[in-house]
Amino acid sequence: MAETEIRVDPFPDAAALDRLWRAAWQAEGPADPQAILSRSLVHLGAYADDVLVGFVNVAWDGGVHAFLLDPTVHPDHRRTGLGTRLVRRAAELAAERGASWLHVDFEPHLAAFYHGCGFRPTEAGLMRLQPG
Ligand SMILES: CC(C)(COP(=O)(O)OP(=O)(O)OC[C@H]1O[C@@H](n2cnc3c(N)ncnc32)[C@H](O)[C@@H]1OP(=O)(O)O)[C@@H](O)C(=O)NCCC(=O)NCCS
Repeated sequence: MAETEIRVDPFPDAAALDRLWRAAWQAEGPADPQAILSRSLVHLGAYADDVLVGFVNVAWDGGVHAFLLDPTVHPDHRRTGLGTRLVRRAAELAAERGASWLHVDFEPHLAAFYHGCGFRPTEAGLMRLQPG
């Protein structure tokens, strides 16, 4: 398998994200990634032979809080440590860029993954604001 290269703020286009989303989430990718990434503190792309195979985004409140969103690894590249590398590097860069706290929410089966990335457990809440 090709060596993966992690790029900082690569601004992948909608087609590249859509290919990754369909493989990883069985869903369409974001329709307007530039609108999302314009609010990003940092995002990372993992590339194998110039193809996007991993992604993570950190959104920011402009103060001390940052939010880890959409960590994604293509199924062909999972369980090789790539997801952990992406999240840990995103956390380092978020700290360098001024955030003090990194938040994440996830389903219970991913607790070990996030623990391995350096997160500690906390109570959290989530509210659906729109259908779909
Ligand atoms: C979650 C995800 C990003 C993990 O990526 P990855 O590159 O496979 O993760 P890593 O190789 O760094 O995993 C490190 C460890 O985390 C744990 N882990 C990773 N994926 C796991 C899973 N699906 N279920 C349970 N534990 C998991 C394992 O302990 C793993 O170590 P091991 O392979 O030695 O057993 C990837 O499975 C993915 O894209 N899933 C679909 C999208 C998604 O659900 N994203 C998270 C949204 S909150």
